[in-house]
Amino acid sequence: MMSSYLPVTLSSIQADTIIGCDIYLLVHDNGKGHYVLYCKGDTVFENGKREMLVRKNIDRLFIGENDRKKYSKYVELNLQNILYNKNIRPNERSQIIYSTATNLIQDVFEYPVLRNIERSKAFAYNMIDYIIRDEKAAYSLLKITSHDYYIYTHSVNVAAIGSLFARNIGLNEKDLKSFCTGMLLHDLGKTRISPDIINKKGKLTKDEYEEVKVHPAMGVKILKEAGNGLKDEYVIILQHHENCDGSGYPYGLKKEEIHAGAKIVRMIDTYDALSTKRSYSNALMPYDSLKKIKNEMRNIVDLNMFKRFIRFLGGYGW
Ligand SMILES: [Fe+2]
Repeated sequence: MMSSYLPVTLSSIQADTIIGCDIYLLVHDNGKGHYVLYCKGDTVFENGKREMLVRKNIDRLFIGENDRKKYSKYVELNLQNILYNKNIRPNERSQIIYSTATNLIQDVFEYPVLRNIERSKAFAYNMIDYIIRDEKAAYSLLKITSHDYYIYTHSVNVAAIGSLFARNIGLNEKDLKSFCTGMLLHDLGKTRISPDIINKKGKLTKDEYEEVKVHPAMGVKILKEAGNGLKDEYVIILQHHENCDGSGYPYGLKKEEIHAGAKIVRMIDTYDALSTKRSYSNALMPYDSLKKIKNEMRNIVDLNMFKRFIRFLGGYGW
């Protein structure tokens, strides 16, 4: 017997596919709820089964908690269908995008092999297609960016906010796709830094900071070693900690020398880190995060870009 169950929406499941994990229904008997197996994971979820639930107006199904990864993989493979399914509300679509991406990033960061890198690329392409075709719906992604700081959810936050912003200021489709891939993978190199340093409360020692500074180049190295065929993504990853006043790393580049995409990542990376609860500080409200950047980090970000970013967030009711 499964110990606990997670809800999934029927809309995320395509008729006549094999889901890969068992699907349960929550049935109430004499006021007591219990889970009943509805479709075995290795059999086809036939259209008839789906229709029956639609007729009964049941949208919430359940999976075993241990099957979270299997289900997420299934959704990832069917993402395109889900994103264009008008029966799924934009909020719900965003939630699906978000949890799929988080799961995917966890896989890539733990196993940065070619297959997983290709998955990130495919995911980024789907997400950009979605943003371009249904920009209004895609904005609900901004509302669910997580406020708990984990390296995976942070990468997804940056990629979601960054893609929407870049689209808003007119980046073309091809550039958006590699930009989004780069953003998803921008902190990959952090996986080679000791977790004690990454999670340290308080100020880093000089040696610790030197170790942190390696992560942009390390990320590119990991990707190159995996032999992935990426190219435009490297500059984003390599330069995402450069500051406009030259105080950043690894090269200490100045404003004009930094790639525009890397400047966007630097800005949103900072914004998201401030807006998110981390081990050593509480989350700020979006407005306070922006104010802090404006007051204390004005030399770090590109001010013109920052103004456009404020306008971009302001346009969506923040
Ligand atoms: Fe970073």
